[in-house]
Amino acid sequence: MRGVEMFRDLQSEATEWRRHLHRYPELDYRVHNTAEFLTEKLSSFGINHIETGIAETGIVAVIEGEGKKGPTIGLRADMDALPILEASNKPWSSTIAGKMHACGHDGHMAMLLGAAKFLAKTRNFNGSVALIFQPAEEDGQGGKRMVQDGIMDRFGISQVFGMHNRPGIAVGKFATCGGPNAASLDEFDIVVKGRGGHAAQPHRTTDPIVVAAQIIVGLQTLVSRSTDPTESLVISVTKLNAGTAYNVIPERAELAGTVRTFLPSLRDFAERQIEALAQGIAQGFGAEIEFKHRRLEPVMLNHADGTNLAIKAACALVGSEFVDDNMRPSMGSEDFAYMLEARPGAYIRIGNGPTASLHHPAYDFNDEAMPYGIGYWVNLVEMALAF
Ligand code: NI
Repeated sequence: MRGVEMFRDLQSEATEWRRHLHRYPELDYRVHNTAEFLTEKLSSFGINHIETGIAETGIVAVIEGEGKKGPTIGLRADMDALPILEASNKPWSSTIAGKMHACGHDGHMAMLLGAAKFLAKTRNFNGSVALIFQPAEEDGQGGKRMVQDGIMDRFGISQVFGMHNRPGIAVGKFATCGGPNAASLDEFDIVVKGRGGHAAQPHRTTDPIVVAAQIIVGLQTLVSRSTDPTESLVISVTKLNAGTAYNVIPERAELAGTVRTFLPSLRDFAERQIEALAQGIAQGFGAEIEFKHRRLEPVMLNHADGTNLAIKAACALVGSEFVDDNMRPSMGSEDFAYMLEARPGAYIRIGNGPTASLHHPAYDFNDEAMPYGIGYWVNLVEMALAF
């Protein structure tokens, strides 16, 4: 059990790493320079078991404790930036136009590096720590590929933990909850095929725009009229494309959208009913539809034991008054869900203070959070792998 004061002297160095990573953001799986930077730092800490090139550019580095009998726990940080033009006006702004670390993954990497440096020096635990650096969180599939590449079995990982900063929570505070922490994510596409013609003679056409409009309104009733009000489902139509001229009724209209929920039964329901409703409405107007549905990320479920451990580690660091253990889950998605499907564990939010929101061009990770994130990881390891 260590308080946050023990990690203050790592703040300036971790801040330097973070600002370096911030200057040179890379996207999705193409995080080659980022991976090289991390590998070099990890070996400079005396860590010699480092595997690179997992899921293209991911890294797993293993630190053995003084006691070697215990299990291995995995700690995960994400590596990728976003295709956003930075507007933070910070001296360490992105040097690459149109790319920036707008989700704080630079800070996540720096905090895990800080913990790695501390743990490689102290090794005051019984078992091993697998530091997992994962590419392509933003496209939602990097975590899945790390699991498919066999990291859980190959490194004998028995529990896995993740952390993400959250603007709006004060620096020095943590928040989590047991059970669902982030929603499942699915996407759908609907093409409405009507019959085009002259806009002055609508009776000679099957207007796909009117059909699409009915479908959009109809889909809203799947949540408001067909879902138990105490359960959560989001269906948002986020794209609508049709037509090219004022006086032409087009042949087709295209819709697309996203579905979020915490319940497998609602996920199945939405997939089935979006198609059935769109089909039925189109048929009533004499139009046809093409329907495509893709399941992307699963619900991210915090396991009971892992959540308790995460809460204890945070409380030991900052005191229970700064740890919200009953956070409202988010309808956003997170690809750490794949790791929590493969192994038990938990995901926690760390306060980033009153900064711009995630994915905003003015966002910047708050370096004041550094000792808290580092200290959380160290406490988690020393408590999970206590002698
Ligand atoms: Ni993120």
